[in-house]
Amino acid sequence: MTKRIAVIPGDGIGPEVTEQTIRILEKVHPGFTYDHFNLGAEHWLATGEVLSDETLARLEKVDAILLGAVGAAPGSTTIPSGLLERGLLLKLRFAFDHAVNLRPSKLYPGIPTPLAESVVGGKTIDFVVVREGTEGLYCGNGGSVRTNTAHEIATEVSINTAHGVQRVVRFAFELARTRNKKLTLVHKHNVLVNAGGLWRRIVAEVGEQYGDVTTDYLHIDAATIKLVTAPDSFDVIVTDNLFGDILTDEAAAVTGGIGLAASANLNVDGSFPSMFEPVHGSAPDIAGLGKADPRAAILSGAMLLDHLGYDDDAARIRTAVESDISASLDATRSTAAIGDAILAVL
Ligand code: IPM
Ligand code: MN
Repeated sequence: MTKRIAVIPGDGIGPEVTEQTIRILEKVHPGFTYDHFNLGAEHWLATGEVLSDETLARLEKVDAILLGAVGAAPGSTTIPSGLLERGLLLKLRFAFDHAVNLRPSKLYPGIPTPLAESVVGGKTIDFVVVREGTEGLYCGNGGSVRTNTAHEIATEVSINTAHGVQRVVRFAFELARTRNKKLTLVHKHNVLVNAGGLWRRIVAEVGEQYGDVTTDYLHIDAATIKLVTAPDSFDVIVTDNLFGDILTDEAAAVTGGIGLAASANLNVDGSFPSMFEPVHGSAPDIAGLGKADPRAAILSGAMLLDHLGYDDDAARIRTAVESDISASLDATRSTAAIGDAILAVL
């Protein structure tokens, strides 16, 4: 049976990078159907609608979702901050129960990194952040009272459930088992004693079933240091939603930039479609100029294939992107030219 992919190109460079991704997917795995959904800043400006229940119900029926990027330019006066983030991107992650936000980081040979040669030279930097996707400070559990007065009170309360933490921790242990068998919990349990305590206990409990996996722990602040001083020491990192958000931007920066950082929002029980998107945003400053690097989106497409069970096709994309990377180290190429080059390798 043919798989149905929903495509949400979104804003800014989103449409440019998803277009290239679909070309590559059609080449390595012909026969999917692609339904385009026009959502994002433009759509909101034109219709006043962010994501209707009807659209959500249509999206629920597909096999996977490919998303480009959503969001207006920072400082935009026409689109309120958070409207698209909360109303579209996070709404999809929550509605479709994307428990795991999976973000691999790998430094490919020859790719420039801001890290010193003494840190990266001769080392393998290849780790995965397993970011919790449905809880933490992202829940929208807060409010504002006495707003716009000198006594304004604003709260954002972090939600951490045993169920939510268990499922992401279990996923991370399973993943570590297929890799170098090392799992690092990142949190801040010396200050966030309640949430941190829960995460710590669950890692210890679940870890009893994974005797082959070594576990360790870092506070988030220390983790940001270690990511630039000893990035080769990581294998699998498991962490909450906000720490994972911050750490994966840093991880992308140290492993060759956001142009190569892919991600998957995984529904772990198959109850709803999973969603695949580059870590980067809509980059309004370069939108429409054909300057965006589509490889983060293309590698997210490979994660989509993995998720649907087409591991060999996913591996072909990764190999083609890797060979494109090593063949084009000094080249300045357009978005489409990068797509062409990867297609040519395939
Ligand atoms: C990301 C983004 C989103 C997040 C924003 C756009 C809501 O930064 O995917 O990392 O914070 O999760
Ligand atoms: Mn982010």
